[in-house]
Amino acid sequence: MSTSNKIDPPIPFVDIKGQYANMESELNDAILGVCRDASFIRGAALAEFESRFAEIHGVGHAISVASGTDALKLAVETLGIGSGDEVITVPNTWISTSFAISHTGATPVFVDIDPDTYQMDVGALEKAITPKTKAILPVHLYGHPAPMPEIVALCKSRGLYIVEDVAQAVLARINGQMVGAIGDIACYSFYPSKNLGCYGDGGMVITDNDDLAAKMRMLCDYGQVEPHLHQMIGYNSRLDSLQAAVLLRKLPHLEAWTAARRRVAGWYDERLADLAVKRPVTGPGAEPVYHLYVIQVDNRDACVSYLRDHGVLAQIHYPSVIHLQPCYQDLGYHVGDMPVAEAARDKILSLPIYPEITEAQVDQVTGILRDYLSGADA
Ligand SMILES: Cc1ncc(COP(=O)(O)O)c(C=O)c1O
Repeated sequence: MSTSNKIDPPIPFVDIKGQYANMESELNDAILGVCRDASFIRGAALAEFESRFAEIHGVGHAISVASGTDALKLAVETLGIGSGDEVITVPNTWISTSFAISHTGATPVFVDIDPDTYQMDVGALEKAITPKTKAILPVHLYGHPAPMPEIVALCKSRGLYIVEDVAQAVLARINGQMVGAIGDIACYSFYPSKNLGCYGDGGMVITDNDDLAAKMRMLCDYGQVEPHLHQMIGYNSRLDSLQAAVLLRKLPHLEAWTAARRRVAGWYDERLADLAVKRPVTGPGAEPVYHLYVIQVDNRDACVSYLRDHGVLAQIHYPSVIHLQPCYQDLGYHVGDMPVAEAARDKILSLPIYPEITEAQVDQVTGILRDYLSGADA
């Protein structure tokens, strides 16, 4: 294969180093401030970050935890869900979503997705509800909102909880409403490559329900209601103050970074319009935040190899579906049970997207993709 059109240096999938370089001195100040004060656990930066995060979402409570995985697990546990219960979610997400359900002893029930938006299929959801169903766990995948109006309608009429997985979709909206502030409780990840990322692991749970917030705070703080009074068997799950200090400095930039992601998605949309690829589809009323820009192509694996060989560090989210993972063999799912998610799995690929990518780099990425599709190096 000729690599004469190779981009060198390669275009990364995300550019965490570039973002750091743009904010280096203020981030260093924030980190050193925590060190100088030795306020490593539950310092002022953490309290301020929680309060600003709640304010942005218009909810009463934001409770920080050690990771997005913990946020999900503790949120499901806070709802009192456990053995004998079912929670419905999607099979095309990061494994933490379903592990959150499994860790409580409840059973994850998977439903297929919409072929255009990749979000939960509401028709399939309705059919999957049983007397054992206690909650629905929609994932706002790739930064696109799940169809919340329909999910809320279904849950209200049946008395089911909604736990939103907002790990990829901070600030996304549907019908003008910010996701995360729609269900009973919502979970965020601050994994470094997320739209709002810290420098390690971190997560958040938000809710407008005072009782759920009180239980959640207790659960992640050793089950304590006050120091040395352990009301329940709890966990030690907290966001480090160093991470909170970083996040607090980054938070004011999030709107601008989101606008930049939308601009980049627009550049891709324009340049891919005449190519044999399926571009992202925005659902009704949705305002996505483009955590990922996911396209579908035939011969996906060959395409990803070509892109990577030519300096475009594309990735796949995700190359497997959860209902067919070995850890869930006991649930009895088979190939073909989720035809839409399984078909998408074989064709999806994620192109580089981050606020700092330039229009010229998007031109380079789409140029390489165009070369591949036209068989330039064949
Ligand atoms: C959809 C989704 N849910 C949950 C998680 C878990 O978050 P974390 O990596 O912070 O544990 C992630 C992030 O990887 C995610 O993308």
